[in-house]
Amino acid sequence: MIVTQSAASRTAEILSRPITLNGLTVPNRIVMAPMTRMFSPGGVPGDDVRSYYARRAAAGVGLIVTEGTYVGHPSAGQSDRVPRFHGEEQLAGWAKVVEDVHAAGGTIVPQLWHIGMVRNQGEPPYADAPAVGPSGIRVDGTEGAGQAMTQRDLDDVIGAFAEAAAAAERIGFDGIELHGAHGYLLDQFLWERTNRRDDGYGGDAVARTRFAAEIVAAVRAVVSSDFPVIFRYSQWKQEAYDARLAETPQELEAILAPLAAAGVDAFHASTRRYWLPEFDDSDLNLAGWTKKLTGRPTITVGSVGLDGDFLRALAGKGAELGSIDNLLDRMERDEFDMVAVGRALLQDPEWASKVLAGRIDEVKAYDGAALKTLS
Ligand SMILES: Cc1cc2nc3c(=O)[nH]c(=O)nc-3n(C[C@H](O)[C@H](O)[C@H](O)COP(=O)(O)O)c2cc1C
Repeated sequence: MIVTQSAASRTAEILSRPITLNGLTVPNRIVMAPMTRMFSPGGVPGDDVRSYYARRAAAGVGLIVTEGTYVGHPSAGQSDRVPRFHGEEQLAGWAKVVEDVHAAGGTIVPQLWHIGMVRNQGEPPYADAPAVGPSGIRVDGTEGAGQAMTQRDLDDVIGAFAEAAAAAERIGFDGIELHGAHGYLLDQFLWERTNRRDDGYGGDAVARTRFAAEIVAAVRAVVSSDFPVIFRYSQWKQEAYDARLAETPQELEAILAPLAAAGVDAFHASTRRYWLPEFDDSDLNLAGWTKKLTGRPTITVGSVGLDGDFLRALAGKGAELGSIDNLLDRMERDEFDMVAVGRALLQDPEWASKVLAGRIDEVKAYDGAALKTLS
């Protein structure tokens, strides 16, 4: 790939601009996408996790969104190697991650996660905990593999997210991201196929959004007013790639408006290919529509700098490098504000510094091997 001087300075100009999310100023527009790595035995992020994140902060990533980390509810997870966001040792591990990322000049938010009906009973870290979700229905439609949440369960989970957010602020994180995407608990409420409730948490799009909005409000109530709350959501689900929450901008607005009103400062619209238009009659992608409908700063994501989407990566496949011209065009038009990068940053910790310096031709292609190690 040949990169001309003017293309290089255009890239730097667009991506190097600082941005403010509520009370947080991020030094540039590059976000590290949340990526589950499972290198935290006992749920405790250790020294290797510290250096993994700090290395990317030192090399120019403006904002790191950590891998999904379980909130303090027994049914939240399914692995003993995914970092937890509760417990003294676990939070002490996270505090050191924050310290190192800050020392490297970066900013960092944890992605707070509850997997809901994706859990299988008997899995760690709390083997006895049942799978729970809005209606006890899995994303693939299976019924009977878990429990519909009682009001008590709803209150407990809302409380767990609020506690995690308060802990995040206490130990020095710069904000939080709520994982409302990909078919996990919050998304199971948003999606009509997995949410069949008739108690005010199910029904139309606004009712299905109520649980997520109550979590946002509970978080907002326990953190400082300038502490940024980011909400990640998606149309697609891990086990249903073609699923959609909204077929029209109006349907999308019905979901996003209550979340924005509850106190979301920025949205992270997860797509697999950022260049695809989300609805008919407009070139805007999902992040573009999100910004247009809510007025909030928005993060885009999906195969940035690559030519193959990340499902190939989960199958162990690589991806060639792709141009980011389309991304820069969209940012110049103010379609969205920030760009999250996943696999390309796993493969090449120097990705951000190379791109910001206009040396995109030096970025390493993604070969899939980076998934297996933490470096
Ligand atoms: C190994 C791996 C783990 C991931 N884990 C998470 C996660 O914990 N939370 C999340 O919201 N998305 C997760 N994702 C999705 C990424 O955040 C991102 O949206 C996706 O990889 C597309 O970006 P990319 O094409 O730049 O890789 C994961 C992706 C990969 C490849």
